Amino acid sequence: MKLSGLLPLCALLALSQQSQGPSKCECELVNLNQAFPHNKLDTIQDDASGCVSRITPQSSFHMESLLLGLKRRLPQLMEDLEQLEEEHDGDLYSALSLHVLENELEEIQQLMDKLNGSIQGNQELAENTTVLLQNLKEGLTDLEHFDTMQVVKRQHVNQRLKKDLDQCRNGLQPTAKPTQPTDRTCPLGQFVNITGPVVYTGGEYPGSYKYGGWGRDPKPETGKESWYWLVMMTSSNRYANYIRFYSTLSSLIVGKSTPGNIQIHASNPTTNTIQGPNVVLYGGSLYYNCFNAPSLCRFNLTSKAITVTDLPKGTRFNSKGNFCQLDECYPFTDLDLATDESGVWVIYTTSQDFGNLVLSKVEEGEQLKLGQTWHTSVYKQAVTNTFMACGVLYATRYVSSTTEEIFYSFDTATGKENFNVGIFLNKVSPSILFLNYSPVDHMLHAYCDSNMVSYKFLFEFNDSLNVSS
Ligand SMILES: *[C@@H]1O[C@H](CO)[C@@H](O)[C@H](O)[C@H]1NC(C)=O
Ligand SMILES: *[C@@H]1O[C@H](CO)[C@@H](O)[C@H](O)[C@H]1NC(C)=O
Ligand SMILES: *[C@@H]1O[C@H](CO)[C@@H](O)[C@H](O)[C@H]1NC(C)=O
Ligand SMILES: *[C@@H]1O[C@H](CO)[C@@H](O)[C@H](O)[C@H]1NC(C)=O
Ligand SMILES: *[C@@H]1O[C@H](CO)[C@@H](O)[C@H](O)[C@H]1NC(C)=O
Repeated sequence: MKLSGLLPLCALLALSQQSQGPSKCECELVNLNQAFPHNKLDTIQDDASGCVSRITPQSSFHMESLLLGLKRRLPQLMEDLEQLEEEHDGDLYSALSLHVLENELEEIQQLMDKLNGSIQGNQELAENTTVLLQNLKEGLTDLEHFDTMQVVKRQHVNQRLKKDLDQCRNGLQPTAKPTQPTDRTCPLGQFVNITGPVVYTGGEYPGSYKYGGWGRDPKPETGKESWYWLVMMTSSNRYANYIRFYSTLSSLIVGKSTPGNIQIHASNPTTNTIQGPNVVLYGGSLYYNCFNAPSLCRFNLTSKAITVTDLPKGTRFNSKGNFCQLDECYPFTDLDLATDESGVWVIYTTSQDFGNLVLSKVEEGEQLKLGQTWHTSVYKQAVTNTFMACGVLYATRYVSSTTEEIFYSFDTATGKENFNVGIFLNKVSPSILFLNYSPVDHMLHAYCDSNMVSYKFLFEFNDSLNVSS
């Protein structure tokens, strides 16, 4: 197709000619090249953005969670089956064990069904996407013919050269040998990065409660090693009066709560019930901010007893010392409880610290009391949440609706602060309302706008994760 057109000369020339007479001056523009097919480029752009929006990270997270659930469920089934065989006394299998096994098989079946659904959806998606990508590739190859300036081709060559250079450079770099860790409670050293999410689930009440917390007890009671706990702010997004339990991760994912609820009080809220989502379970007790008080509560799941201790004078409470992001603060996040290898910590702020984060160790023992306290220079309203790992406090901040940054750390062993941690989390929804490190499986558990999400820590000395439950 040859494009040719007539173009009037500029107005000035036209004017000067008009004054001389009625004759008109015209010149012909002949484009020897083919016209650039803008329509085609537009179509390709539309197709490409359609392709991107079609493949959401959610679909793959969902699959991964289900698979992880299954991976943890199967060894449990094997164990129970072995136990059943041991109990087999010639004629009769224990009815109880059979029942347990039946339940387990049913859960696994549910998990498989969900997985089957996801697989079929993803297969179709993959097929559709492959076709789209093939079309895009062909379209772009066609368009390259119009690249008369050779810009795109040269860019390709440059990219290839750069890749070769990078490979060459990396190949030359000697891998540094890490020094031996000094802290005995952290045999893997400090964590260096985070991947995931590896678990992502709406659980039993998808979308119902925006605020909550969940995880595993790092020091579980016998027989409850694989249990997961969930506390949802069921009243006004602020208060809770019970803990819900799931016997395994897969039960949590398929939403089947076998042990059920343990209630703190029949009313919600009332004296010493839960206020705010940043609670933790440790050693068979739930630690949380007591309702309407600058105090820490410990609820013993076995004895149902509640022990209370006051935080230092001046501690901000009742939504006066919250975590915040750019546009909003997260209500009733005055107290953040955290667990790590060494036990329980509480993170808060006080008037005399001008709103900066304060960290106290919670002492174990019959009496509930605070141990050593550290004062940081990070302003709590610049932080979205905190967690502890190996005696180091970490703080996160909001980067975008899909990214959160672990930007700050405070080492309780040295008192050193670091404002340049620079580790990023891929989010599944904009707000992280609970974060806690689980030293049993080296996971970071998050509660994000009613979704339960886990990330995997990568440590200095070992990249492998112990996923057994
Ligand atoms: C998976 O789902 C399809 C259609 O829903 C069904 O035909 C098939 O039997 C299922 N497979 C398994 C292993 O459940
Ligand atoms: C795949 O393409 C077909 C036909 O265009 C459409 O009906 C189907 O919904 C698509 N599937 C997915 C998962 O996008
Ligand atoms: C952390 O891991 C991500 C990919 O999972 C990678 O892109 C990033 O560069 C890593 N960051 C550091 C500090 O190693
Ligand atoms: C919880 O109560 C049980 C039973 O009374 C007791 O053995 C256990 O030590 C208590 N836990 C804590 C942390 O006080
Ligand atoms: C690292 O992980 C591997 C595999 O799980 C294990 O065999 C090894 O002992 C671990 N090393 C350390 C230092 O924990």
